[in-house]
Amino acid sequence: MPALVLVGAQWGDEGKGKATDLLGGSVDYVVRYQGGNNAGHTVVVGDQKYALHLLPSGILSPNCVPVIGNGVVIDPAVLLSELAGLQDRGVDTSKLLISGNAHLITPYHRTLDKVSERFLGKRKIGTTGRGIGPSYADKINRIGIRVQDLFDESILRQKVDAALNDKNQILVKLYNRRAMPAELVVEEYLGYAEKLRPFVADTALLLNQALEDGKVVLMEGGQGTLLDVDHGTYPFVTSSNPTSGGACTGTGIGPTRIDRVIGILKAYTTRVGSGPFPTELFDEDGEALRRIGGERGVTTGRDRRCGWFDAPIARYATRINGLTDVFLTKLDVLTGWEEIPVCVAYEIDGKRVEEVPFSQTDFHHAKPIYEKLPGWSEDITKAQTFDDLPKNAQDYVKALEELSRCRISAIGVGPGRTETIQVHSLL
Ligand code: IMP
Repeated sequence: MPALVLVGAQWGDEGKGKATDLLGGSVDYVVRYQGGNNAGHTVVVGDQKYALHLLPSGILSPNCVPVIGNGVVIDPAVLLSELAGLQDRGVDTSKLLISGNAHLITPYHRTLDKVSERFLGKRKIGTTGRGIGPSYADKINRIGIRVQDLFDESILRQKVDAALNDKNQILVKLYNRRAMPAELVVEEYLGYAEKLRPFVADTALLLNQALEDGKVVLMEGGQGTLLDVDHGTYPFVTSSNPTSGGACTGTGIGPTRIDRVIGILKAYTTRVGSGPFPTELFDEDGEALRRIGGERGVTTGRDRRCGWFDAPIARYATRINGLTDVFLTKLDVLTGWEEIPVCVAYEIDGKRVEEVPFSQTDFHHAKPIYEKLPGWSEDITKAQTFDDLPKNAQDYVKALEELSRCRISAIGVGPGRTETIQVHSLL
């Protein structure tokens, strides 16, 4: 019966793919509940590396049903090419289910995402340019196009016409771009209908039935807590709710059904795009974290901004998501530092502040207060149990657990499937 939620506890890219994939063997359904192809999961299976953007990482586990929930925004061309890429590598994708209520990303969303960013200049958000924000904006404005609209040509035509009515004015008059003929969009999207039809289902109904049948359902968030449109570093956020509440609205599974909320927390911090980041490093240490941690975006190829672990953020994620467990990732990246600074609180305008401030201005001014923990130099990638870790690595994990106010149940010590220490069962 367990329903589990997996959320990024920082700014995304915490290594959720590894965690979902690890659990994927024992869960029956893996559902993505928000975001779109702005996400990027890298999953390593044996000597094969897979970069997934839109598909739930459970697609790589043979006995698992991957589901794209109603809260996701789908770029159909990207979805079909991701599916084709996996099929070419021998992955069975036939079990995929897609919610008919999920919204679509269209060419005008992509264009608007890029031009509006350009017009923001220095104030730009640093979006992935995939049309995510404009597609969610249309959903909220009630002029979005849903997957189910692909199967009713006249409705699709009406909706695309209505959406382009004002968008073409904006494209032409405000952004000096060419108008987009509705007919071209309709033709292109009708072409996707039959290819997607076999996957489309009432996913909320199926998932609730699965839970009643005693199946294990894992809800997988994209991005992370600090990129949440309500709880993140607004406006430098994505346009959906990666936090655990989004799992309910984005799948149709009610909160009373959720048994576990697992936060994925990197042993240090990264972020892509603009916005505040108190522990960001601009020195050799930052460069070393980027190099050793391979901190380059899976989706955009942008270098990630890197910094030390930020405990107020971890506590914030514990609180906002109601975390029951933490999966600590990439501990191995910290091997070799003599001392590892950990941010335990902030200094804001001369005062010590223990928690993430609600005021954005304060957060922009937050300076990290560090405590230095002793490092380790031993290779930890072969460690199978907590006791296999060198004492200083154990102490680092224990300190993070205490500071985060949530138990650490799994520790990633390398990129491969098996390079994980399980301290407590996640199921
Ligand atoms: P958007 O989601 O493309 O609108 O981008 C909004 C913000 O979220 C930007 O700062 C992006 O860099 C960031 N973002 C979106 N998806 C991810 C992700 O999967 N990992 C990390 N950052 C992301």
